[in-house]
Amino acid sequence: MTTPLDYDRFDHVRPIRWTGDALELLDQRKLPFTVEYVRCTGSDEVADAIHALTVRGAPAIGIAAAWGVVLAARSVEVGEGGAAAAQLEPALQRLNAARPTAVNLAWALARMRGVLVGAGPDWRQVLEREAQAITDEDLAANRRMGQSGAALIAPGSGVLTHCNTGSLATAGFGTALGVIRAGVADGRISRVFAGETRPWNQGARLTVWELQQDGIDATLIADAAAAHLMASGQVQWVIVGADRICANGDTANKIGTYALAIAARHHGVKFMVVAPSSTVDMATASGDLIAIEERDPAELLQFRGERVVAEGVRAWNPVFDVTPHTLIDAIVTERGVVERPDTSAMRVHFPA
Ligand code: MRU
Repeated sequence: MTTPLDYDRFDHVRPIRWTGDALELLDQRKLPFTVEYVRCTGSDEVADAIHALTVRGAPAIGIAAAWGVVLAARSVEVGEGGAAAAQLEPALQRLNAARPTAVNLAWALARMRGVLVGAGPDWRQVLEREAQAITDEDLAANRRMGQSGAALIAPGSGVLTHCNTGSLATAGFGTALGVIRAGVADGRISRVFAGETRPWNQGARLTVWELQQDGIDATLIADAAAAHLMASGQVQWVIVGADRICANGDTANKIGTYALAIAARHHGVKFMVVAPSSTVDMATASGDLIAIEERDPAELLQFRGERVVAEGVRAWNPVFDVTPHTLIDAIVTERGVVERPDTSAMRVHFPA
């Protein structure tokens, strides 16, 4: 078994850098051909970057928002945390509104609010330490999930993943892609397939690039090829991340995940969701209560800024869907593995 330290050689990309006076975000709109960091010096810039998908992926947007609060604190002149909290609230609200589906955003902002309560004159340092803790804990959780998720996979297996759930979407290592990194490092995974993830192409532009940086061989497929791939017998697991996992295990993730889960069940392929506890929302009972983000139809009607669909045609662009817990074989969090998730199985790891 490979130790977590050995995983370093499979994990080189970092999407978020705190410089001490600015937040640098690897611009995921420009990858894979341009590797460029955008510098944010205020919280509204961070909110805009989250909305524009400069930074994306549920854990990464939570981390970016936490650093956004640190930046917002620069323009607040008060002597203790309670007063700062009141003044910072509008900036926190704008960060929270940047994207609706991933619960990690609200979770990170709640943690930043929480540490201000009772903080004294050093409240700015308190905020900075909390943002760093959120970052460090995410990386540690991903490595732990990588090991426990990979342990579920029989040696020699093939896997299919969706969207980008890797270092680019987290503090590093990734969630579903972390399990794939660990599974490759441990020799359990022999074949990796990534769906292109229309319309924003996170799989095609980000996942296969990220894996290439780490020397992990992967094959891109069209989203529409997934069921055919499963029928061919080349994959034994579908492994995806999550933007919100409800109390009963229903899981919101990138649009197309639900269709993969249905196809997987039909073909006897196992379905694994990998996400840190910051993605678990025990306050939401089931998936029908999750707000699903709908983005500009232009993402469907255009390709690289150029219209490719006849003028006058309308498009509907929901960017997440909900996979019912009955289609999920295992939810892997840093607290452990929930097999055949439902409300009582979830409660074992996430008590009220
Ligand atoms: O719209 P995106 O690219 O932010 O969507 C990302 C996903 O759906 C990921 O699967 C999810 O956030 C988990 S990332 C570890």
